[in-house]
Amino acid sequence: MLNSLDFPRVGDKENSPFFEQYLSRVLAERDRSGLTDMIGGIEALMMTVEPGNSIEYVAELSLMTPYHYLVTLDSPRHLTHVLRIDMASPDILLREVKDADYHDIFRSLNDIYPVGARRQHSRYLGEILLAANRHEVVALQEAREFRFFSVGQLAELDLPINVSLSKPSPYTQNVVGYMERPTDGIRVYQHGECVILNEVQAAYERGKEMQARLGIDDLILPIDHLATRVYSQNREAALLEYLALSSYYYWGSYDIKGQNSSTNVTKNVRGVAESVSPAKVFTANNIPYCVNHLDRSPSPTENFVRNYGPRLHHMALAVSDGQRQGMEHIDFVVNAIQTQGKGFLLETVGSREEGLKQIFSEASSFSSLIIEYVQRFGDFHGFFARDNVAFLTYAAGLQEGVGAG
Ligand SMILES: [Fe+2]
Repeated sequence: MLNSLDFPRVGDKENSPFFEQYLSRVLAERDRSGLTDMIGGIEALMMTVEPGNSIEYVAELSLMTPYHYLVTLDSPRHLTHVLRIDMASPDILLREVKDADYHDIFRSLNDIYPVGARRQHSRYLGEILLAANRHEVVALQEAREFRFFSVGQLAELDLPINVSLSKPSPYTQNVVGYMERPTDGIRVYQHGECVILNEVQAAYERGKEMQARLGIDDLILPIDHLATRVYSQNREAALLEYLALSSYYYWGSYDIKGQNSSTNVTKNVRGVAESVSPAKVFTANNIPYCVNHLDRSPSPTENFVRNYGPRLHHMALAVSDGQRQGMEHIDFVVNAIQTQGKGFLLETVGSREEGLKQIFSEASSFSSLIIEYVQRFGDFHGFFARDNVAFLTYAAGLQEGVGAG
């Protein structure tokens, strides 16, 4: 049996006694119930974009990531493009809403936030996790008071029927799905009609040809981590909730005092590489906005949450270690992508001495998601340099440009 408590703790952010007590209890009960053994890694990420935006987003992802276009699932209200690297990394299910007037619960989550509402349908929905026995996992989770969409609701939401999906989290507003897959089998989504769309294929090929021409196609690796921003007061609950729903363990939290923020990391319990099942990171302000008039601290994290709602902020892709044309790979990749009109927030931060180098892209005009690139040097396995995170948090705050909106 896996032991989710058997990991060293890193970080310096202090948690409440409540969190420490319930963390141990949640993980011990999860192990004992069999859920840790039954739930595997991240199989797919789900995201939605506006009508007409998915094709150019496929071109963008094709250039900026190792993903390939596989097929499109054509269903009544969405076109869902399946993007894949291989079976050793999660898929991306990129959903385009067909009708701008379409309403569902995910749109409602955007509608109440001033910047989120500008792209009504565009949001990251959540991850699908591998489950040894999906119905047994859902029954156990329901018995633990987690809520799931019914089969009828999934049909109404126009989502794959072989995936069980939780209701959006009150803390992160993300969903967690479960699906089965035979060992060494391929992932199959039972959803609509499976087609290859010429325009999508062409956009994909355009991105990949440019990636090869720029000489970066062998440098960008799969997703390393997914970072969700939540309200200050929800930090601990968001962590406990994700740990209860997944088979991840709590790695630790770092206090980024200068940005009034913390970075809180969970990782897969089986110790597989992040490329197989990315780390899940939660970021939250230290002090909530409602008392910040007393301290006037920088609050890029909570400002983001107030503008967009709690949601995924960025997905980080690893860059292979090495140098090309006298530059670290990450700088080579960033320079190359910049020639194609894609912007980045300030410059790369970190160094070989610090163990890693990182940068944020500008938010995609199609999905609002930021792409982070991270290059680790030598045998550095952590994913953290405090100064880097402080700088990235600061940089991301500059771009939103919506002040206290
Ligand atoms: Fe990150």
